[in-house]
Amino acid sequence: MTGHRGVVFVLFGANGSLAARKILPALFNLKLDGQLPEPFMLLGLGRRPLDDAALAARYREAVGHHSRRGEPVQADWDAFAGALRYLSFDVRNLEDYARLGARLEEQARAWNTAPEVVFYLAIPPDLFATAVQQLAAQGLHRERARVRVVVEKPLGHDLDSFLTINAELRRHFHEEQIFRIDHFLGKETVQNVLALRFANPMFEPIWNRNYVDHVAITVAEREGIGERGGYYEETGALRDMVQNHLMQLLCLTAMEPPVSYAPEEIRSRKMDVMNALRHLAPHGLHQLAARGQYRGGWLDGERVRAYREEPGVAPVSSTETFAALRAFIDNWRWQGVPFYLRSGKRLAADLSEIAIRFRAVPHCFFPGCVGLNTAPAQLVVRIKPDQGVHLHFAAKEPGYCMCLKPVQMRFNYREAFGTSVPAAYETLLRDLMEGDPTLFMRADQVEAAWRWLTPLLEFWARNPPADFPNYNPGTWGPEAADLLVATDGRAWLSPGEVV
Ligand code: BG6
Repeated sequence: MTGHRGVVFVLFGANGSLAARKILPALFNLKLDGQLPEPFMLLGLGRRPLDDAALAARYREAVGHHSRRGEPVQADWDAFAGALRYLSFDVRNLEDYARLGARLEEQARAWNTAPEVVFYLAIPPDLFATAVQQLAAQGLHRERARVRVVVEKPLGHDLDSFLTINAELRRHFHEEQIFRIDHFLGKETVQNVLALRFANPMFEPIWNRNYVDHVAITVAEREGIGERGGYYEETGALRDMVQNHLMQLLCLTAMEPPVSYAPEEIRSRKMDVMNALRHLAPHGLHQLAARGQYRGGWLDGERVRAYREEPGVAPVSSTETFAALRAFIDNWRWQGVPFYLRSGKRLAADLSEIAIRFRAVPHCFFPGCVGLNTAPAQLVVRIKPDQGVHLHFAAKEPGYCMCLKPVQMRFNYREAFGTSVPAAYETLLRDLMEGDPTLFMRADQVEAAWRWLTPLLEFWARNPPADFPNYNPGTWGPEAADLLVATDGRAWLSPGEVV
């Protein structure tokens, strides 16, 4: 880690699940990897009265559960736990911000330098405005180069609420101080899309409408909504996954080659994709998108609840737990190539991937029967469960006759590099403390994603689904999603292809 003056990581929502599941395991692993700045202090803010030791005990348990490295070694933990502090704090209580300011000054005196300060808002978005206003009222936002604020998706509930949140952030902080997290951007294979496309000469020439038939982006989860019913009821699959994670995958897949690895250059090329997305015309929406909600049923021999039976969910809920849509990018490279996006809960597999499906060969000279077993060539960037790249193509089956068979060449991160891949939050928190915004969302892109989805959000809100619940757990979603691609003469990846 490049030398700097130390970091105070102020964690709003220190007792929340994001802190326990993602942030603390990531910080601890950065420490183990020698990537945490020195000196470092985490100042956890939460309403519950706790002391430093109680906070450390909670976090030790959380790290044991959620770190990719499992239970921490005691000596390693002790070396980290010394940096954990707690301040009982109510986001709505103005006096608490004065106490926070005093605590930061005290730390600066103890370190004999003004440290870098990260305000990480791991709190519900409706509290963002209060938090930033009060930080600013205490003057804690000043010093552009030294102070950063971090917010997580979901950034708003629709375009208007995003604009309100963003205006509030921008009123007090400069754009370069604002780090908007979409954790998919920290995933190793997601970043590898750039390496694959632009560090190799052979993919880019065929990465266009002349060779690509369509692109299918799937982020499927086997889990149901669990304890997050309260949050999810207000969100649904379109807002929770498509508006952010799938749009990021789409942009990285479709963007033009950047001129340099400069953060703004990469973010601008992604923005070009957003600008080229074909408007979702209100009259054709039922043919462009499909939604679903899972039923109860059996999964791995266990009875699982329907979405409408989950805690915190209305018994007649219209919230979608599955969303699929067809997008077009109106530019020279992608004209006419459909990008199919789908994401859902309680699906057949935990599977996230970007599949580039190529066109059939222009002339197939093999006898008709020979090709019966072939599938079109495709390049799959796999994000989950394993991280890697698979190339599917046709080969001759060994034997006396000319029979073709689909085969795969596989690159797997773990096997190739013999190391476990850092979790997305590790990459992102390191970049955050380094002040590198490349893997964070720029406001214009978030705004464009909300703007693009607005007609669909409004259409779904105006037309409550008549057929919910409409898919069984352990399947690939509702029939409407199959229809969406079938009307184009195509099909989604079938479960049998998931290896
Ligand atoms: C989050 C969503 O952003 O991403 C969750 O809110 C989802 O609903 C999660 O489960 C998936 O992320 P990952 O890294 O587990 O694939």
